[in-house]
Amino acid sequence: MSTVTTDVLVIGSGPAGSSAALFLAGLGVDHLVITKYRWTADTPRAHITNQRTVEILRDQGVEADVVAEGTPSHLMGETVFCTALAGDELGRVRTWGTHPARRADYTLASPSSHCDLPQNILEPILVGRAAERGSRVRFDTEYSHHVQDDDGVTVTARDRLTGAELTIRARYVIGADGGRSAVARDAGLPFDGRGELAGSMNIVFDADLTALVEHRPSVLYWVLQPGADVGGIGMGVLRMVRPWTRWMAIWGYDLAGPPPELDDAAATAIVHDLIGDDSVPVTIRSTSVWTVNEQWATRYRSGRVFCAGDAVHRHPPSNGLGSNTSIQDSYNLCWKLAMVLRSTAGPGLLDSYDAERAPVGEQIVRRANRSVEEFGPIFTALGLTPGADPEAMRASMAARADDSPTGARRRAELRAALEAKDYEFNAHGVEMGQAYTGPGVVADGTPEPPPERDPELFYRPTTRPGHRLPHCWLGRDGHRVSTHDLTGKGRFALLTGIAGGAWATAADTVAAELGIDLAAHVVGPGREHTDLYDDWARLREVGEDGCVLVRPDAHVAWRSDALVADPAAALREVLGSILDRT
Ligand code: FDA
Repeated sequence: MSTVTTDVLVIGSGPAGSSAALFLAGLGVDHLVITKYRWTADTPRAHITNQRTVEILRDQGVEADVVAEGTPSHLMGETVFCTALAGDELGRVRTWGTHPARRADYTLASPSSHCDLPQNILEPILVGRAAERGSRVRFDTEYSHHVQDDDGVTVTARDRLTGAELTIRARYVIGADGGRSAVARDAGLPFDGRGELAGSMNIVFDADLTALVEHRPSVLYWVLQPGADVGGIGMGVLRMVRPWTRWMAIWGYDLAGPPPELDDAAATAIVHDLIGDDSVPVTIRSTSVWTVNEQWATRYRSGRVFCAGDAVHRHPPSNGLGSNTSIQDSYNLCWKLAMVLRSTAGPGLLDSYDAERAPVGEQIVRRANRSVEEFGPIFTALGLTPGADPEAMRASMAARADDSPTGARRRAELRAALEAKDYEFNAHGVEMGQAYTGPGVVADGTPEPPPERDPELFYRPTTRPGHRLPHCWLGRDGHRVSTHDLTGKGRFALLTGIAGGAWATAADTVAAELGIDLAAHVVGPGREHTDLYDDWARLREVGEDGCVLVRPDAHVAWRSDALVADPAAALREVLGSILDRT
């Protein structure tokens, strides 16, 4: 039996695996992707694509593809709570940063906008671009098991077309094989949390619902009906897949019983209930059942095997963090693998992967599950009790319109309960504020200032080591470029001002010594990049003669408040520590 060899074997072609392929291809790393099925995701699944992810895809040159295929931000945000799409509207929440009072936060934070891009459209973009750039992708190939030694990993896989066994020898493996990850299991990764908390079903269907939604465009329409509190993700949902003709209905079921039989008639009945109009023609495209989990791996690595995505964090779709976090895991990992494979970094750099990403995984799993629980106060505000009969439920909801003390209390409680959903739908701090500690960054010794605003809801730009580089617009040849456009592409970057020119010279020296790519930028008048609006001067938090050293994933590696006596020595020490070259 012949053995295929590669530097990195990626197992799975979901958001984590397909983006890993794209990143590795861009970094020029020899790699192979194997994936179980004949093609990418066959149902829409994850869809909210947040600013951080679009920014990453911008770095990879595929932002335009995503924008072209995605539903734009202005059609995403009038999130409706109702008794049925054609029924009574209980309230609305402006979501995904579309509230006028929040829009500036989002616009200032990133060069990129949110969009809605169903997973079955995103994955072919990622796989296609990766393959164009050199990825080898082997479909119909199922991972069976692996064995690792000091030099590499031997993976046994099965060709699902012929049944033949295939052996792949890789220096590193990325297990991106989803929520039932066999790679994570075989690698013995430890998990915390709880599984199988609630049952849910997805029904993908075609129906022209334009007349019911066009005047209140949103990605999500939440439906409160009898049974809406059973299982699921907090309430019934009609989710836009393509405006306004393809949809997904999400409805819970009781895990204590068997999974529901979902033939077309049963699925159509659920969809019609959620729409509230049986006369709307509906064509069922697919049905599936799934469970709500609250599980995270406390370690993402075993030797030469790394896991990413749902393989290491399993949670409900609330907050739209599934595919975003998966892509962000791979973005964190791939530049590190590339540098270690090139010997421009020692293997210690890889220790920073789970030090940085495992806390993020736990945070987003807990956040998504709390968002499910935060539907509870909406039921309470409307006076709804578990298992109430449909008539009592309707009467209770109608009472919120009464001119009575109960009516007034219900209106006030409902308002507060809907406001609390900001933690699911406008959690900008969760999306953009991920910060790392550990061996991959060098702290500058200053204490972390306390947050001025709720850190889950609000992103605070900062150049503190470990945080994402703040975005602002700089000028280049009179055109606007983001600070993020000066970073990424697999390179370190250093930003300084005119008085810090010596940092740039030192950066060139140290980059040559270490054999790494480090792009030094002096920002100021008469230089290649100008501070168009003086925003960088406001954001950089270091003096003009200081510097901000940025990693290839746009997180700050280190910063210096001012010029030091020997800037080359300072950079040598910092990069030596991060890259395990000491
Ligand atoms: P993902 O599961 O996407 O991909 C795993 C990959 O591994 C697949 O390509 C699979 O074929 C492959 N694979 C599995 N076993 C293998 C083996 N043994 N050998 C080789 N390949 C193997 N999230 C969200 O944010 N919003 C949402 O609305 C939804 N909705 C939703 C619906 C349904 C039905 C599911 C299943 C999931 C969601 N999610 C979601 C979750 C979201 O889809 C999820 O977080 C991401 O897909 C995770 O991406 P990964 O790449 O980690 O795994």
